[in-house]
Amino acid sequence: MACSKHRVALVVVGLLLVGVVVAVAVPLSLRGDQEKNGKYTPRFQGQDCYPEAEGKRSAVNKTACLKRGCAFSTDVPAGQPVCQYTEGQYRLSVSSIVRTSLGLQATLQQTGSAPFGGDIRSWRFTFESRGDDIAHFVFDATDSSRYKVPKPVDVPARAGKQPKYESRITNNHSFAFEIVRRDTGTVVWDTNIGAGSLILSDQFLQISSRLPSRNVYGLGEHMHETFRHQMNRTWASFARDQPPSWDAEANLYGVHPFYTCVEDAAGNSHGVLMLNSNAQEYSFTELPSLTFRTIGGILDFYIFMGPSPEQVIQQYTGAVGRPMMPPYWALGFQLCRYGYNNISNLQEAVESTARYQIPHDVQYVDIDHMDTQKIFTVSEQRFPGLNQYFQELQSRGMRIIYILDPCLVANETDYRPYEEMKRIQGNIKWAVGVEVPANSSDTDGAILGYVWPQGKTVFPDYLKNSVKQVWKSLIVDYRHNLTFDGLWIDMNEPANFGTNEERPFNWPEKDKPYWSLKCPSNTWEDPPYRPKAAYRFDSSSRPARLSDKTICMSTVQGDQDQYRHYDVHSIYGWSQTDATLEAARLATGERSIVISRSTFPGSGTYAGHWLGDNVSQWKDMQSSIIGILEFNLFGIPYIGADICGFFENTSTELCKRWMQLGAFYTYSRNHNGITYLNQAPGQLGDDVAFASRDILRIRYQLLPYLYTLFHQAHTVGGTVIRPLHHEFPTETDTLSINKQFMWGACLLISPILEENQTQLEYYLPKARWYNYYTHEQLLQTSGAWRRETVDGNSKPSLHVRGGCAFIQQEYANNTHFSRRLPLTLVAALDGDGRAGGSIFWDDGVSINTYENGQYLEAQLSATNNSLTVSVTHWVPSADWDDLIFNTAQVLGVSQKVKSVYLQGQPQVLTFTQTEQLLEIVLPALPLTQNVTIYWSV
Ligand SMILES: *[C@@H]1O[C@H](CO)[C@@H](O)[C@H](O)[C@H]1NC(C)=O
Ligand SMILES: *[C@@H]1O[C@H](CO)[C@@H](O)[C@H](O)[C@H]1NC(C)=O
Ligand SMILES: *[C@@H]1O[C@H](CO)[C@@H](O)[C@H](O)[C@H]1NC(C)=O
Ligand SMILES: *[C@@H]1O[C@H](CO)[C@@H](O)[C@H](O)[C@H]1NC(C)=O
Ligand SMILES: *[C@@H]1O[C@H](CO)[C@@H](O)[C@H](O)[C@H]1NC(C)=O
Ligand SMILES: *[C@@H]1O[C@H](CO)[C@@H](O)[C@H](O)[C@H]1NC(C)=O
Repeated sequence: MACSKHRVALVVVGLLLVGVVVAVAVPLSLRGDQEKNGKYTPRFQGQDCYPEAEGKRSAVNKTACLKRGCAFSTDVPAGQPVCQYTEGQYRLSVSSIVRTSLGLQATLQQTGSAPFGGDIRSWRFTFESRGDDIAHFVFDATDSSRYKVPKPVDVPARAGKQPKYESRITNNHSFAFEIVRRDTGTVVWDTNIGAGSLILSDQFLQISSRLPSRNVYGLGEHMHETFRHQMNRTWASFARDQPPSWDAEANLYGVHPFYTCVEDAAGNSHGVLMLNSNAQEYSFTELPSLTFRTIGGILDFYIFMGPSPEQVIQQYTGAVGRPMMPPYWALGFQLCRYGYNNISNLQEAVESTARYQIPHDVQYVDIDHMDTQKIFTVSEQRFPGLNQYFQELQSRGMRIIYILDPCLVANETDYRPYEEMKRIQGNIKWAVGVEVPANSSDTDGAILGYVWPQGKTVFPDYLKNSVKQVWKSLIVDYRHNLTFDGLWIDMNEPANFGTNEERPFNWPEKDKPYWSLKCPSNTWEDPPYRPKAAYRFDSSSRPARLSDKTICMSTVQGDQDQYRHYDVHSIYGWSQTDATLEAARLATGERSIVISRSTFPGSGTYAGHWLGDNVSQWKDMQSSIIGILEFNLFGIPYIGADICGFFENTSTELCKRWMQLGAFYTYSRNHNGITYLNQAPGQLGDDVAFASRDILRIRYQLLPYLYTLFHQAHTVGGTVIRPLHHEFPTETDTLSINKQFMWGACLLISPILEENQTQLEYYLPKARWYNYYTHEQLLQTSGAWRRETVDGNSKPSLHVRGGCAFIQQEYANNTHFSRRLPLTLVAALDGDGRAGGSIFWDDGVSINTYENGQYLEAQLSATNNSLTVSVTHWVPSADWDDLIFNTAQVLGVSQKVKSVYLQGQPQVLTFTQTEQLLEIVLPALPLTQNVTIYWSV
């Protein structure tokens, strides 16, 4: 056909077979594209050339549109952009293709002009097969000189033998490509959707892809109103000290350019990572499609082919880093507030919790314990004897975490942390040639800002190895002064008060005139395309800038000053996290834990996260479920929101319900802001206290199961707090559920989330389920919504899935004591009378116990009227050799049980016919021993 001269089409299949490249070039139909009389009519209209207007037609005018070289027309259907890219204005075409051992490389040449200048005419597209599950592609300038995120990604070194995907490149009119799931033919990635789907220039890169379905999850960090994305929204990502509640579309503390997608009714799923740390946006359209826009670096994408939703997360965490294994105590309840203000308020919060016998493992102090908010100091006036008090709590089985900010005050005399960072030239400094604003530079060229301390601060550059070393030694030394078990790193976006404003927040009245950081004007501070992170939050009439609430973009970082802050801003928190965990481990000699406010892909290897400074209101409690589900997708399963709310006064009912929900966060911390009503669970009266105590006791009973889930996440990836659709992806209702969640595959949590709620409606997927509290059996032959009447005394609904076996333990006031108490073996039978599960146990505190073989693991199974525990790994240890079972519970035993035998010997049993519950009292059975129990009917 005559038209074929316009087409270079090839399909790359099975890229590497025993060292031989197999690439099959076949013509590819372009599915609906029209070509008549030599005139090319694209199948799709052009991409939106004025995304700042966010679909509001009135916000785009013709002049501004034409200035970008785009086409303007108001005569387009509703929902379509009035300012569109055209094929004529800009395109990339393939000039050559070479095959490589992993795939291919194509050189792309630009014709026309990029919409925001910064044209780079020649680009290289690389497509690689990385094992059967992962496809990788990159667009970089042909000279490779562009900024790349300095984070290794761990993918197979070889191409797949039977990859789950194939890639098709088309060069019809302009370069486009698609990635197809081989066994279903589903196109999971398709850039052939009209002009502007691929634009590469110096400070503006965008790529659009058609989505195979509307079931898309992830992308952060924001406060999303729904877990499944709405196909009409644009979200910005750029690390920012921005609390979640002020504006629903704000870019918050971290950056996670990763989404998952359930493609079809069979539940086939994939995930996509854009490894890029510049300010960026994710725009959905109703096609449905998704556009990634970024203002620097390269387009570096990884596609994880699943096919189950859990496998997607396993593959993703395999690439960016598996989550850390938290110490056992970190699964206990934690209490914090900003504004204890003195040691007696702190003590009262702790003792009120103990008086009500509310389990409590970890106590915090926030920045108010410091001397004028300087890290590595304590206010001796307000917190005399703090270290002794912390040591006393440790002797009672509790653990301590306190806060550290990244910045150091620069105008004190003899402040060692500052002196040491300055000595090694460790602070972020102004780029050479930048016009430095008045009074904003330290004597060595470091940028000055103003954060919590009373005086200007410098910002250590944690991308420098020397800074990591000094930071570690400061922490290790300081633990001799103030003990801790874990650390909480805050303000690491990095936050700065009052950038580009007249007066920094908290600048002392007496220190007039006010000074604040004013960033200069240049292409890094005010890039030609202002992404949503910079245009959204005009609180005043002044134009918002990337540097608002943080430091200037035209500063430099890295051992050779090789990075611009413009590029590495969003990895500041990530770069601080590994060194902080290393320091905490060196200082404590234990596994320890770090909680970080700013996160990036891979942060989960070193830290957990909380959802930031929320508000004590019902809506924030409800939306926290979406946040905790998303961070599980991001490979940061240790996650929670501030229970009872941070800003504003909580109410007793809200706090009670939030304590009940928060008992199922993996990171369960009640945290309050300064000046608000006391909200420790023992300080709001009997109702909150007893409800908190009762639900936390259930959490503590379930901790062996939760710990085992963390072990699985740490070793094979996957989620701990799990969306329902990860277990039941073929049930359509699960795809949009965001008011329920699971712990692993076995426990379904349906919390009470409304004020004065009298009815709790929840979805039960197709399975056999057991009410956790009553053991009542619910057989769902298909998924269905159910209703329960609830009142002030109700707890969240908890359901155990048939087929699950796990271990519970008696609760105590903290895990130091609960970890020694007797265990219960629970088996919830499925329709075939079977159940299975496992337990992972170690000393709870040593580093790399699994990696070093210092653990116990046992398989649990029920089948054919029998229950067995078989120890699959064991080394002798005082930490588990004395642990015993004293009870077994079998749920769903339909026929009356007459007798029970343990290793052949008859045992005492109780059998409740109505609940079909078989309860067996066991002699103290060591966990280290294989056990077989039989029952006869
Ligand atoms: C068109 O939009 C640009 C950018 O928002 C603005 O600066 C300009 O004043 C507008 N022009 C008219 C005529 O409204
Ligand atoms: C987006 O679509 C949803 C329905 O999917 C609708 O409820 C919402 O109002 C829309 N939002 C905007 C900003 O158009
Ligand atoms: C927890 O209980 C144990 C006794 O079981 C006691 O020794 C310890 O002091 C208690 N811890 C706290 C923090 O109250
Ligand atoms: C540091 O600067 C702040 C703000 O100007 C001032 O209040 C404080 O007294 C200064 N500290 C010292 C030690 O000079
Ligand atoms: C820690 O304590 C020692 C001994 O009391 C003291 O000399 C040192 O200044 C303290 N360090 C810090 C950072 O407060
Ligand atoms: C809940 O009940 C209280 C007391 O009856 C009432 O004041 C409040 O307005 C109710 N709230 C809602 C959301 O209905």
